[in-house]
Amino acid sequence: MQFHVKQGFVQDETADLLVVNLFEGVTEPGGATRALDQALNGLVTQVIAAGDFKGKLGETQVLYSGGALTAPRVLITGLGKQADFGLAKARKAAAAAAKKARELGVARLATVVHGAGAGGLDAADAAAALVEGTLLGSYRYRGYKRAEGDNGKPELAEVVVLEADADKLAAVQQGMAAGQVVGEAANWARDLVNEPPNYLTPSEMARRVVQRAEAAGLKAQVLGEAEMAELGMGSLLGIARGSDEEAQLIVLEHIPQGVDPASLSTVALVGKAITFDTGGISIKPAENMWKMKGDMGGGAATAAALVAAAGLNLPVHAVAVIAASENMPGGDAIKPSDVVTAMNGKTVEIISTDAEGRQVLADAMCYAARYQPDAMVDIATLTGAIGIALGSDLAGLFCDDETLRGRLAAAGELTGESLWPMPLWQPYRKLLDTDAADMKHTGGRLGGSITAALFLREFAGEQPWAHLDIASVSWQEENSPFAVRGASGFGARLLTELLGAYAG
Ligand code: BES
Ligand code: MN
Ligand code: ZN
Repeated sequence: MQFHVKQGFVQDETADLLVVNLFEGVTEPGGATRALDQALNGLVTQVIAAGDFKGKLGETQVLYSGGALTAPRVLITGLGKQADFGLAKARKAAAAAAKKARELGVARLATVVHGAGAGGLDAADAAAALVEGTLLGSYRYRGYKRAEGDNGKPELAEVVVLEADADKLAAVQQGMAAGQVVGEAANWARDLVNEPPNYLTPSEMARRVVQRAEAAGLKAQVLGEAEMAELGMGSLLGIARGSDEEAQLIVLEHIPQGVDPASLSTVALVGKAITFDTGGISIKPAENMWKMKGDMGGGAATAAALVAAAGLNLPVHAVAVIAASENMPGGDAIKPSDVVTAMNGKTVEIISTDAEGRQVLADAMCYAARYQPDAMVDIATLTGAIGIALGSDLAGLFCDDETLRGRLAAAGELTGESLWPMPLWQPYRKLLDTDAADMKHTGGRLGGSITAALFLREFAGEQPWAHLDIASVSWQEENSPFAVRGASGFGARLLTELLGAYAG
C-alpha cells in the first residue's frame, strides 16, 4: 500500500472515498468534518441529527456526495468519547475506516489525521497511528484461494493524507513512515500465523523469517538439530523428536547503524514457534486442533518486532531467539514420564507432551541469556488457562522487575495490545517438585498459567525477565469493526514499542 501526505483540504481531493471523523455526542462538527459538511450542504449534520451516526469508536457511516464533491463517497469514522481519546483510539478509528473501505472496494482513499486537531495528539504520533490502523484494518490473509475473493473488488492501494497546516507536514510525514514500518511488520506476523502448517514448517518459517530479516538489515542465523544437540538443548530437542520436520532455532540481531554499541541496552526477545501443536503423545481433542497452526504466534511477534526495530533504526541492541518445531506424536516422540536435560543442565520430567511450549522456550531462553541482555521477554501461546483467567482481550504479564513490568504495561496501553499483571507466586513453585528430576514441567490444572511461568523462570537467568502468555489473544475468533477474524499479530507492535522504550 502506498501512503503519501499532501498539504490541503480533504474536501477538495479526488479519491474513491474521503475519510473524516467525529467524536461521540458532537452535533456540530468542527475542522475538516465541518468543511465537508458545508460542502455537502449539511448532510453530515443531518445524519447526526437523525441519530443515525453517534460517533462511537468503530462506528462508520458512508455518505454519497451526489456531485457536490469530486469524490463520490465520504466516510465518517467515530472516535468515541473525547474524554477517553488517545492514540490507541485514533488507530482503531483508522482501522475501522480502512476495513470499511476495503469492503466497499475502494482503491484510493483520502483522509485527515485523526486526533491531530481537536483530539490534541502529537502530529507525528497521530500520523503513525493513522497509517498503522489503516494497514491493520485493511489486512486480510490471501491464502490459497484460486478464485478472486470479494467478487474481484479492487484492493485498497493508495492512501493520501491531507494536512492543512504546512508546519505539521514534516512531522506527519515522519510519523507516517514509522507507522508503515510497524503496521507492515504486524501484518507480516499475521500472515505467518494464518499460514497453513504444511506450508509453514519450522524450516520454511526459518527461511521466510531470515529472508525478511536480512532484507530489513538484521543479522540472521539458524541452528539446526545437530547444532542444538551440541549446545545441550535436550528440552527443545525432546519436543522435536516426534516430528519428521527438523526443529530450527532462529536467531535475529538488530545492531543499529551509526551508534556506539557500548552505549546501547540489549533486549532479548524469545518466541515460541510451534508450527503445529497436536499435543504429541498427550494428543489434543480433534475439534479445535486446527487452530494450533497459530502456536507460533509468539515467535512471529518477536521476528516482526526485530524487523520493525531495524526499519525504525531504533538505538537499541535487540536479539530475537525463536524456537521453531512441530509437536507431533511420531514413533520416536517424547513420552509422559520421560526426563530431559535443558541447556543449563536442569533436568525436567515430562508430565504432558502437550506442555511443549515451555520445553522449547527453556532452551531458547538459556541461549538468549548468552547475549547478557539487560532485559529478557518471552512471548508464547502457552496455556489455555490464561484465557480462563483473562478472557480474549488481555494477555498475561508475569514479571517481578518493576521497570520492565512498567515499560511493558505502558507499551500495552500505547499499542492497544493490553497486558494484565499475573503473579509469579513462589509458594506454587512446589507444585513442580518431583522425585524423578530437578522439576516436573506442569503443576496441575489450577493456576496452570502461573506454574507455567514459574517453570520458565528456572531458565531466565539473572537479568530482569518477563513472560507474556498470549494464548487467548493471538487468534481472534470473530470479525470486529477493526479487524478480520484470524491472526491478530498480538505482540508485534507491543514488543516494537518496548524496544523503543529501551532505545537511547
Ligand atoms: N499451545 C497450547 C496452548 C493454547 C491453547 C494456545 C489454546 C492457544 C489456544 C499449549 O501448548 C498447551 O497445549 N498447553 C496446555 C498445557 C497443559 C498440558 C499443562 C494447556 O493449556 O492445556
Ligand atoms: Mn501444547
Ligand atoms: Zn502449544
